[in-house]
Amino acid sequence: MKLIDARRDLYRRLAHKEGYRSRAAYKLKELNTSYRIIGPGFFVLDLGCSPGGWTQVAKELAGNKGQVMGIDKSFVEEIADVHIIRGDIEDESIVEQIFEYFGGKINAVICDLSPTVTGMWDVDHSRQISLNYAASKIVDQVLAKKGNALFKVFDGQYSIEFRDYIRKKFAKVQLRKPQASRKSSSELYYICLGYLGN
Ligand SMILES: C[S@@+](CC[C@H](N)C(=O)[O-])C[C@H]1O[C@@H](n2cnc3c(N)ncnc32)[C@H](O)[C@@H]1O
Repeated sequence: MKLIDARRDLYRRLAHKEGYRSRAAYKLKELNTSYRIIGPGFFVLDLGCSPGGWTQVAKELAGNKGQVMGIDKSFVEEIADVHIIRGDIEDESIVEQIFEYFGGKINAVICDLSPTVTGMWDVDHSRQISLNYAASKIVDQVLAKKGNALFKVFDGQYSIEFRDYIRKKFAKVQLRKPQASRKSSSELYYICLGYLGN
């Protein structure tokens, strides 16, 4: 077995054993250990949350005093003490539903959005980046000053443009590829700390 496959398998087995719905849960755990994107008591929005691995981790990190909401186009099974809605993040009415739940601005937005992939990288990359622009429009409306955000990015020709766009909005933006992310995959994570407000 190749090292990459072995590592993938390790995280999949670990997720099964520890009750996480996705291997991706370990990416958020690792990034949060380094950057504290989410802390206790945080109000957190998870965009593109199905099947719910990140949402589970977000709830653990935010604790009893925190609040977590997940949104996805696909069905997501309930998660205790988390508000999940089925919806399209590109639908403008979504912001209203976010405020309805939180009742005000929030501390963190995490985005693990992926389009339905076609296998044509240029198409998939452009579509994924455009989902990130849609997510950042939501960020601009709901994130409190000094709040944090996390974006998954399919790396390609428009990644730098998106990084420069997002850099203007946060005090600090870091790029990372967590261990739980396959080396062969072209996904990167932009960790955005200290929202400057708009
Ligand atoms: C990689 S999965 C997320 C995995 C999740 N973070 C976890 O740990 O379980 C990406 C998700 O983005 C969702 N998605 C893509 N476009 C969307 C949109 N416009 N609105 C809402 N969700 C979307 C997909 O349905 C998919 O479930």
